[in-house]
Amino acid sequence: MYKESAKLIKESRRTVAFTGAGISVESGIPPFRGENGLWNKYDPATFEISYFLRNTKASWEVMRDIFYNLFGQVKPNYAHTALAQLERQNLIHAIITQNVDNLHTDAGSKNVYEFHGNLKKLVCLSCGAKIDVSDISLTKIDSDSFPPKCQKVHGSSKCNGVLKPNAVFFGESIPRDAYSKSFEEANKAELFILIGTTGEVAPANMIPRVAKGRGAKIVEINTESSSYTDSITDIFLQGKATEIMRNLISEINKV
Ligand code: APR
Ligand code: ZN
Repeated sequence: MYKESAKLIKESRRTVAFTGAGISVESGIPPFRGENGLWNKYDPATFEISYFLRNTKASWEVMRDIFYNLFGQVKPNYAHTALAQLERQNLIHAIITQNVDNLHTDAGSKNVYEFHGNLKKLVCLSCGAKIDVSDISLTKIDSDSFPPKCQKVHGSSKCNGVLKPNAVFFGESIPRDAYSKSFEEANKAELFILIGTTGEVAPANMIPRVAKGRGAKIVEINTESSSYTDSITDIFLQGKATEIMRNLISEINKV
């Protein structure tokens, strides 16, 4: 299976990696579903845009606990850095990620489409300003100035608008550029490598299916089978992303 997968990667004229939460599990970020999945502990409704607008403080408190308190410590793992290495060798041409953790970019990948946005930026719901989350000390914010407000000065007054993480909440639309580029890739890729995704959330979950429909081969890396495994996957490499990527890279270097 590794030999065959390595050959596909070496021969493919356009290869796209499609990643989900599973690729970041070994960096310390829990997945959403399955064993110790975030949705077992937190209600996904917290990530509905309507809930956020009505319960901004409560929603921000959950996001701070789940992501922002973790954010400082998490680093890319070998699976992220291996994909960046394959991009430098011109063996991977794009990454479409459902993750909002910035770890592909931190690992050095350049051509990354963030289908669900990115938590590292905050956007002001009043004036649209985008700021880096590192520009505000979320953990030190005392309760009356939480949730964070926009400090942009317009004329003589501060905007003070509500800041929202620049990730796509349930009920929000997908960033236009990421959407169109991702489906463009699905239409022209010869090989898709799926890493760590259940394939449960639309419209992201359609991308590998469109690629398959256009004749792409599908290699899947996952610790368990997913909605793709028995339907569109051609080669299923079962195991942890870092271990599988290590074996795959050593096979590619032999070819
Ligand atoms: N290596 C590889 N795969 C792993 C690992 C690992 N170490 N650990 C877990 N997995 C797999 C699980 O078997 C599962 O198939 O990663 C997948 C994680 O699935 P989800 O938590 O559903 O993540 P994802 O598919 O990315 O979810 C899609 O749902 O909640 C929304 O917006 C959120 O982007 C997310 C979307
Ligand atoms: Zn503002």
